Amino acid sequence: MRLKDKVAIITGAGSGQGKAAAKLFAAEGAKVIIAEWNEQNGKSVEDEINLEGHESLFFQTDVSNEDNIVALVEEVMDRYGRIDIVFNNAGVGFSSRSKYKMASLIETPQRDWNDILSINLNGVYLLSKHVLPIMQKQNYGSIINNSSLNGIVGVPGADAYSAAKGGVVALTRVMAVDYGKYNIRVNCICPGAIDTPMIADVLKNEAFTKAFTSNPLRRVGKPEEIAYAALFLASDESSYITGLIMPVDGGIAAQ
Ligand SMILES: NC(=O)c1ccc[n+]([C@@H]2O[C@H](COP(=O)([O-])OP(=O)(O)OC[C@H]3O[C@@H](n4cnc5c(N)ncnc54)[C@H](O)[C@@H]3O)[C@@H](O)[C@H]2O)c1
Repeated sequence: MRLKDKVAIITGAGSGQGKAAAKLFAAEGAKVIIAEWNEQNGKSVEDEINLEGHESLFFQTDVSNEDNIVALVEEVMDRYGRIDIVFNNAGVGFSSRSKYKMASLIETPQRDWNDILSINLNGVYLLSKHVLPIMQKQNYGSIINNSSLNGIVGVPGADAYSAAKGGVVALTRVMAVDYGKYNIRVNCICPGAIDTPMIADVLKNEAFTKAFTSNPLRRVGKPEEIAYAALFLASDESSYITGLIMPVDGGIAAQ
């Protein structure tokens, strides 16, 4: 019970890494709020966790919409009176190709640029903005931002996505510096290729699979492997760690 009685909001918890983290955090004793814009997936993760005898609550949220974020934070405060952990995980990438075209800079339409930035970067800003004052009052909080390897190294052909994820890395550092005095820790995970619906189509392509497995561990990661990193950063086991940019990537960043 590494998160006993903690209240944790996880964005994008209807799928992939967020879902794995929601299940793990709940099993470790947290009350988990699933902030997800896909109603069917969010509800199904809520049911799964509650059926296992743990506690979770789905709240339909678009992280890029400030009104949604305000409503989410109000609901959590009404119900639980505190917010200990935020995992800013929601993001869009390759799986949203029909809507957002991942492309190099001159081929990126401004609309795609704006949409990707508004979810992957502004979403982190918005939820953090509304939770930080609560954590300040508590003199306690742990925020984990899910960036990407794209945020720390140049990956060809994903320019808007990489700019957003690089922004998340920089934002993590400055939040850690600004809010450490309130005993609020802010850390960042940079996953390599993780086997989730986001990259399911891409993994069908042999060239991509080859690129994604050319790391020291010679494989793609599992969502649970990100969830365990998030669990450590969420828990008091990491109480002296803040501002950390942690690749969880099979060793790509070490090459
Ligand atoms: N899968 C990878 O290889 C990989 C690698 C590096 C980083 N990431 C990052 O990890 C995070 C989780 O992605 P995943 O791999 O689990 O993908 P996923 O597509 O399985 O899950 C992403 C979830 O975020 C939700 N979401 C998207 N936009 C939202 C919004 N505006 N409001 C609320 N929810 C929203 C989706 O509905 C989905 O449930 C993302 O930030 C992604 O950029 C993924």
